[in-house]
Amino acid sequence: MLSRRQQQCLKGIGIRQWLGRSVSGSNSEVTQLPEAVPQEQIEVIEQALPEKPVIISAPVKLDSWDNITQSIHQCQACELARSCTQKVPGVGNQQAGLMIIGEGPGHEEDLKGEPFVGRSGQLLDKMLMAIGISRSQVFITNIVKCRPPGNRDPHIDEVKACESFIQAQIKHIAPRVILAVGRISAHHLLNCTTPVGKLIDQIHHLPGSDIPLKVTYHPAYLLRNPSAKSIVWRDLKNLHKMLNR
Ligand code: URA
Repeated sequence: MLSRRQQQCLKGIGIRQWLGRSVSGSNSEVTQLPEAVPQEQIEVIEQALPEKPVIISAPVKLDSWDNITQSIHQCQACELARSCTQKVPGVGNQQAGLMIIGEGPGHEEDLKGEPFVGRSGQLLDKMLMAIGISRSQVFITNIVKCRPPGNRDPHIDEVKACESFIQAQIKHIAPRVILAVGRISAHHLLNCTTPVGKLIDQIHHLPGSDIPLKVTYHPAYLLRNPSAKSIVWRDLKNLHKMLNR
């Protein structure tokens, strides 16, 4: 039985693999090498190939909203593009004064193609409604546009691969205020590792810009720790004041 790497090597150089018959009769299992490709040859091929499969990076032309969205949909810059159901570029008003940035799509977002539609999203909607803001008035997106498998944290290379998209979206929308929800979003946008609890009470600025940035707890955290809701409520009232200045 060939390893995945060996299978990739053979595929990469156009050698078709020998398919054995599975119990059900379909030709779906790779069971053995064709006689014509000896093991030594595979090893030579393996050494000649780069360590990792070549990844096609995202197109760099992100100069209009349509280009940004299209580039997100076409992106194959990291592994997440292959494991997700679909890309989740973001939703809402391109002229929004408030841009809300979460971490990455979860299961329901992955299925629907829209950010914050699951339980966390329902709580986020209620939080916004509490300060008189509807979902259609804001723009909501995530740091990564593809669901990390099993809702794990996105890896640093995945965040980096998606970085040009969030930067382009912020540039295009030019919001009056950014709300970073949760640790991943706050740490990435502020380029820091300070605990969210310490970032919460201040007004930050997106580095390299004069856009005010507020950090708050992720709604998923609030679902697990309802006692933190009072802190977020205080935060939301400050956010409301900032937007109405
Ligand atoms: N959590 C996030 O950070 N983003 C979503 O879109 C959904 C859940």
